[in-house]
Amino acid sequence: MKIRKTLYGLLACVSILFILYALVNNYLIDPGAKGFISQKTGLKRELHLPVWLNVMYVHVAFACIAMASGLLNFSNRIFEKSRKFHRFNGYVYLVSVLIVVVTSGYMAPYATGGKISSMGFNLLNIIWPVITITALVQIKKKRITRHRNWMIRSYAFCFTNLLIHLITSLFHHGFDLVYATSYTIGIYGSIVLLLIIPEVIIRKIAQS
Ligand code: HEM
Repeated sequence: MKIRKTLYGLLACVSILFILYALVNNYLIDPGAKGFISQKTGLKRELHLPVWLNVMYVHVAFACIAMASGLLNFSNRIFEKSRKFHRFNGYVYLVSVLIVVVTSGYMAPYATGGKISSMGFNLLNIIWPVITITALVQIKKKRITRHRNWMIRSYAFCFTNLLIHLITSLFHHGFDLVYATSYTIGIYGSIVLLLIIPEVIIRKIAQS
């Protein structure tokens, strides 16, 4: 029980801080994504900036909703108070994930780092909904532990952007690699980590 509370506290801190960072950075500090766009070199398709930006705003908004609704649904206290809310909020999470994936589908062909980066994002566009829908299927079959474990796997992908930027910074600033290459490494590195980290957490919870 103690490990669950500690994990939840940690998750809540990281999620809330990242939601605030994503909102402030993308809607207030750099709403034109100038810093990010300036790293896009040698694009094969012409990028229609106003459309891309509007899609990015929707993407970030629903990514934040997914993070917040997922976080609330991992709370035992809220679950015990109202299962109705857990169910409703679960569908909010599912719809948000689907909107993040659809908007990602629009942005993927223009990804920083070119075709290899686009392929990484398209892989994410398949993995994340499949894992999330598996979580839904499990609860429809009344398999609670499996549902929880698949939701842990799904929620991990809410940290895709955070992890991509952490890995990108490490390779770009730490190892002096060009930004686009570091970004591509960031995408594939985060896919691997986002598949491994939940398994470690699921094991820790099972042991406790
Ligand atoms: C859930 C948390 C997420 C947040 C807060 C988020 C936020 C963002 C932001 C702010 C951008 C603009 C560029 C940047 O600053 O990186 C972006 C770009 C993008 N995101 Fe997300 N994102 C999230 C998850 C995802 C997931 C899970 C996918 C894939 C399924 C995805 C796919 C994309 C794509 C394809 C781009 C365009 C990248 C590029 O132009 O190089 N994002 N995201």
